[in-house]
Amino acid sequence: MQRIVIGITGASGIQYALDLLETIQTADLETHLVISEGAKRVLAEELSMNARDLAQFVTQVHDDRDVGAGIASGSFRTLGMVIIPCSASTLAKVAHGMADTLITRAAHVHLKERRPLVLVPRETPYSRPMLEAMLKAHDAGARILAANPGFYGNPQSVKDLLGFISARVLDQLGIDNQRSSRWKE
Ligand SMILES: Cc1cc2nc3c(=O)[nH]c(=O)nc-3n(C[C@H](O)[C@H](O)[C@H](O)COP(=O)(O)O)c2cc1C
Repeated sequence: MQRIVIGITGASGIQYALDLLETIQTADLETHLVISEGAKRVLAEELSMNARDLAQFVTQVHDDRDVGAGIASGSFRTLGMVIIPCSASTLAKVAHGMADTLITRAAHVHLKERRPLVLVPRETPYSRPMLEAMLKAHDAGARILAANPGFYGNPQSVKDLLGFISARVLDQLGIDNQRSSRWKE
């Protein structure tokens, strides 16, 4: 069974995470989810949901304080990890190798093991620290996939826009999907 790790942090756009979780629910994957304290606040504000509501979509939910979880070790094999959405705070930590939570530790493990790590930052405008952190994380091996859906597929709904990002994330992790239309395919 292939495994992936999904971290949700406290940026706006928890809907992106929810769409990804719904999309991968039917995939033949073992899914490990971690929700930061910041994300729990935004989850309540944006979707009137709590962390327990997301458990139904994944194999296992981990506490962000549990830095002893399997996903905190390089010996625990995964296909890759995504942090969606990725707050400026978590982005900065990942860029600088800080690993004081399970999400940032697992991200660091994915970088050191040279496995795919997809970061989906959401902020506008970007500050200079955030731009620098994106470049630093990119140079360390992360893929910066901003929450920045394209409109060339003629989206008809918010769900279509969310699907665009889910599809691009899954493409980066090498997971076959038809969540969004593809240009001239
Ligand atoms: C409703 C709400 C929306 C937020 N939106 C963003 C955002 O879009 N981007 C961001 O970087 N931080 C945003 N924040 C701030 C982060 O949640 C905050 O910096 C938090 O400490 C991030 O911690 P975490 O990375 O551990 O989740 C938002 C906070 C709230 C309450």
